Amino acid sequence: KRLLLLNGPNLNLLGTREPDIYGQSGLEEIERDLQAFLIEEGWDLISFQSNHEGELIDAIHQANHQYEGIIFNPAAYTHTSVALRDAISAVNVPVIEVHISNVHSREAFRRESLLAPVCWGQIAGLGTIGYKAAALAFLEEDKRKDD
Ligand code: DQA
Repeated sequence: KRLLLLNGPNLNLLGTREPDIYGQSGLEEIERDLQAFLIEEGWDLISFQSNHEGELIDAIHQANHQYEGIIFNPAAYTHTSVALRDAISAVNVPVIEVHISNVHSREAFRRESLLAPVCWGQIAGLGTIGYKAAALAFLEEDKRKDD
């Protein structure tokens, strides 16, 4: 079983980008840590980052029936992208939306997510732990379904 980790625009700059808000960890480190965590559980992780909306849409389409779930930080597209929302609605893979920062304590425009209503759930404000929390949710849900 495997999960897809998708990160949207500007998240390739994690570690150097506004570290007060987004922390010191780079994206590669986050991807590596999450993969190590999942491998211990017998699962695999495929990671993809893009600054381009269409590439993220393609990645969601290609994930259909291929993954148990998608851990998705859509970054700024969270607040703007009807196309990404429609892509999530079009596939049969559950998505957890993750934000490193607490989007509810920042500018008003970050409070709205066009994607959250079509996601399984949303995690915000836990820093990079949020990615791991999302992975844990997929693992636990899978165990629950097997019972
Ligand atoms: C973010 C929050 C978004 O509002 C912002 O545009 C980002 C990162 C987060 O992880 O906290 O790029 O998704």
